[in-house]
Amino acid sequence: MTAETSAASPLAPDWLAYPEDANELLPKMWARDVARGAAGELEISGIPVSELKARFGSPLFVMSEMDFRTRARDFKESFDAAFAELCGGVDVYYAGKSFLCTEVARWVDQEGLRLDTCSGGELAVAARAGIPGSKLGLHGNNKSDAELNRALDMGLGRIVVDSLDELHRLAAIAAERNERANVMFRLTPGVHAHTHEFIATAHEDQKFGLSMAGPDGTTAGSPAEEAVRSALGYDSINLLGLHCHIGSQIFEPEGFALAAERLLEFVARMRKEHGAELPELDLGGGYGIAYTEADTPRPPAELAQAMAAVVSSTCARLGIAVPRISIEPGRAIVGPTTFTLYETGTLKTVNVDTPDGGTYPRRYVSVDGGMSDNARPVLYDADYSVALASRVTQEPAIISRVVGKHCESGDIVVRDAYLPADIAAGDLLAVPGTGAYCWALASNYNYVARPGVVAVADGQARLIVRGETEEDLLARDLG
Ligand code: LLP
Repeated sequence: MTAETSAASPLAPDWLAYPEDANELLPKMWARDVARGAAGELEISGIPVSELKARFGSPLFVMSEMDFRTRARDFKESFDAAFAELCGGVDVYYAGKSFLCTEVARWVDQEGLRLDTCSGGELAVAARAGIPGSKLGLHGNNKSDAELNRALDMGLGRIVVDSLDELHRLAAIAAERNERANVMFRLTPGVHAHTHEFIATAHEDQKFGLSMAGPDGTTAGSPAEEAVRSALGYDSINLLGLHCHIGSQIFEPEGFALAAERLLEFVARMRKEHGAELPELDLGGGYGIAYTEADTPRPPAELAQAMAAVVSSTCARLGIAVPRISIEPGRAIVGPTTFTLYETGTLKTVNVDTPDGGTYPRRYVSVDGGMSDNARPVLYDADYSVALASRVTQEPAIISRVVGKHCESGDIVVRDAYLPADIAAGDLLAVPGTGAYCWALASNYNYVARPGVVAVADGQARLIVRGETEEDLLARDLG
């Protein structure tokens, strides 16, 4: 072992510390019932990963049902507690886009949450799971007439209208059916947040929502105001209130608070100038999770209290009643519940030249999945962490890159990680934090079958989505 391979590598990013014990699992990144068993192997709810691999194969998404239910309940209870006196509690809509299947939709319902969907397909999953339409919301910047009709067929609790065009179309469709559509307006409050930072402007240059910026930079004469005014004139529209979503993977509450303030000021103005009653306010999702040791998410209770304080003081300042608040967390509920189990294959070490004139080894560890089951590193430069799952070892850790099996050099699963030096083909690796936007964004690139999802609860593992087979891959090929 050379000095370079047994200690911190200059190739490691600043945030990645050399581990004292590479076998250690940082609790903030893993489901609550994941731990190492007596022999060192990773277990979930007491089931060793080797058993999961033997029964279900790999790659495999392994989800803790207990952890999912606990996180869902934590959001509901924390926000209910913080807002109880202000508006009687909070409606928590789980954002199905982060991960959705019928079983998970049922857990959401059983834990007292509602479900946020954003397509006809997600509505179909909700319907199959037996979720009542009154507990569903529908998003989307380009909803089709078929999707709007389906939402009305299902008696949706809220359709979050994204544009003036959609408002007029929905009003006509609902009028034709002799119905009233329950509507929220998605507004862009000019706050865009990502992780620890947010920017606040008058305008937002993006495809979602109705702009709150009028010609003079205030909200006067804005598309948002035009929407509220038009909605009041439609008998077929039941205007419930306003919505915003300022971004995703956000750690600090300030961005949410500023967005809430801007929306509440608008609520007050609409009331004064148009007599509009807007009894509901949805502050969207976006709460961040720990993908690496550097991420420091706040507990839901802390976020809830910070947001409740701003909502309360703003409503008092404006002299308006506190609207019924809702939120739409996805990632923060499902992300940490799941790890992806991979088997290692080819190993390779390359020597990398650095700007300081040095040359250092980086080991590439190939696994049996990749960008087809986790597109986030490619799409967003997302960082992940990884643990040797099938055993522990006392070998020193070396800087490694976990890569997939796809024909693309950007096919990276974990860009930077210290993994034990003795990893060999056939070892199992676990990548935590893959519950959100991994399975949901999976593809069949290179005709690689998408993995199944196993739910583990009380020492039992069961498939809730089966993995694809070669027959599935060929099923739509009519040639
Ligand atoms: N509500 C609305 C209107 C949204 O657009 C989203 C996410 C959510 C709620 C849930 O956000 P969450 O709590 O999960 O952050 N694919 C990207 C994230 C896209 C988020 C899209 N909208 C990623 O993997 O980072």
